[in-house]
Amino acid sequence: MSDQLPEAAHQENVEEAVSRLEGEQFKPSRIRVHHLRKMMKAHEPITMITAYDAVIARLVDNAGVEMILVGDSIGNTLLGYSSTVPVTMEIMETATAAVMRGTNRAFIVADLPFGSYEESPQQAVHNALRLVRAGADAVKLEGGAHFAPTVEAITNAGINVVAHIGYTPQSDAALGGPRVQGRNERDEDRLAQDALALEKAGAVAIVLELVPAAVAQRITEISHIPTIGIGAGPHTNGQVLVWTDMAGMSDWVPRFVRRFGEVGKALTDATSAYRDAVRNREFPSQEHSF
Ligand code: KIV
Repeated sequence: MSDQLPEAAHQENVEEAVSRLEGEQFKPSRIRVHHLRKMMKAHEPITMITAYDAVIARLVDNAGVEMILVGDSIGNTLLGYSSTVPVTMEIMETATAAVMRGTNRAFIVADLPFGSYEESPQQAVHNALRLVRAGADAVKLEGGAHFAPTVEAITNAGINVVAHIGYTPQSDAALGGPRVQGRNERDEDRLAQDALALEKAGAVAIVLELVPAAVAQRITEISHIPTIGIGAGPHTNGQVLVWTDMAGMSDWVPRFVRRFGEVGKALTDATSAYRDAVRNREFPSQEHSF
């Protein structure tokens, strides 16, 4: 009998040894892909949240999330657009660099915006490199098996790719709006095949947006990479929310969002208090003057 470990067990041993070494000696400050895989294997939920600037990134990094998504949702959450479509590479580079400067622990995923990867794998690699230079640990792109060659090309360039299937906001017009995807058997099978094809192409994680909980569970069970859900129920390996929704910065939030704070109201209240203090000549007082 051979005394060699089977390949999978060997790989597991190597990963274990590397992370022990890192933990004990190198104390890596950033979360890496193997940490996320380890959490997945240990059934520890992974938390991801969006951030688009250094200030918010620092606050959410301090809260201990494992992943920060510099989402192209910056378009509709911060920049006043009605969709993610107008978001450019330049906007994403600026936001990614700011998030990187504001953090020292979370794994940073930056979205490849609409029009930056669809034309060819070469275009995708070119723009993925730009986001990595700006500070991303991985890039995310929307789309199914059709984009497997693109995921493979970016992966071969040495860049981590996070896939995104289900409702994909960049294709909102083609999908007929934000609708739950994978409701019938055929669509569910297609989503499962998409997930497997993207994993095979090298994706390190996959975002599942607006899919029934049972479909997300099925994909999570057949995947060997972490699944991160948004509007996808409780059975994924992790969850992602848009920070402005999560913190109560908007008047309306989708049904799948829970508001964990009322930061918007706190900001309006603080601004009203400031305005009143200025009007009443209570601010600046002696203590704020030189
Ligand atoms: O841009 C974004 O915020 C996203 C999430 C909805 C997953 O892609």
